[in-house]
Amino acid sequence: MQRIIPAILTADPAELREGLKTLKGHANWVHVDVMDGKFVPNTSVNLFELGEASQIFNIEIHLMVESPEKYFEDCKGIGAKRVIFHLEAAKNPAEVLQKMEECGFQKEIALNPPTPVSKLAPYVERLDAVMVMSVNPGFQQQEFISDVLSKVSEIRRLKQDILVGIDGGINEQTIKQAFGAGVDYACAGSAVMKTSDPVAALKHLQELISQ
Ligand code: DX5
Ligand code: ZN
Repeated sequence: MQRIIPAILTADPAELREGLKTLKGHANWVHVDVMDGKFVPNTSVNLFELGEASQIFNIEIHLMVESPEKYFEDCKGIGAKRVIFHLEAAKNPAEVLQKMEECGFQKEIALNPPTPVSKLAPYVERLDAVMVMSVNPGFQQQEFISDVLSKVSEIRRLKQDILVGIDGGINEQTIKQAFGAGVDYACAGSAVMKTSDPVAALKHLQELISQ
């Protein structure tokens, strides 16, 4: 499992294409942020802009949207391997999970910083992964909220054998803290993609956690 997954958050199709081109050969997984301007106050590229990217990468789609199930056909169309939706955005999470199972996605639920882990309890058995949000979603380059780290062990108390990811504010200052708390993987947006050499930045973060 790749332990640091580069995150692309953009409304510009050219930036998405450029990011994917840069990462080719250097990342197996890529995290793509999708926003609707309603669940979060920001928007992003349409999923179809990913084109054939799933032939090169394992794509995880982070749906920061209301009614996430409305996006599943498009996620399937572009060959998404894992789909992440927000517990706060789903009216009926059990139904959303049912639809994900029909689509064959790996299923992951994201929890915003104020949302307690206890809310996951009815669904956790059906999940492949949980995403601990370490910023309030919608934008890159926000400050890491370290208070959320206690959620990692709480999640594992609910289900031991589950993948735990973290997303938001991961950089060379925060990455060791996140892995120290026991996450399996971390998404890194600006600390990789908004640097002059994203491949070097990704390698550097990887080195920091293999020391
Ligand atoms: C935040 C997104 C993150 C974002 C991470 O709303 O879900 O995936 O791209 O960017 P950084 O690492 O800059 O916080
Ligand atoms: Zn994300």
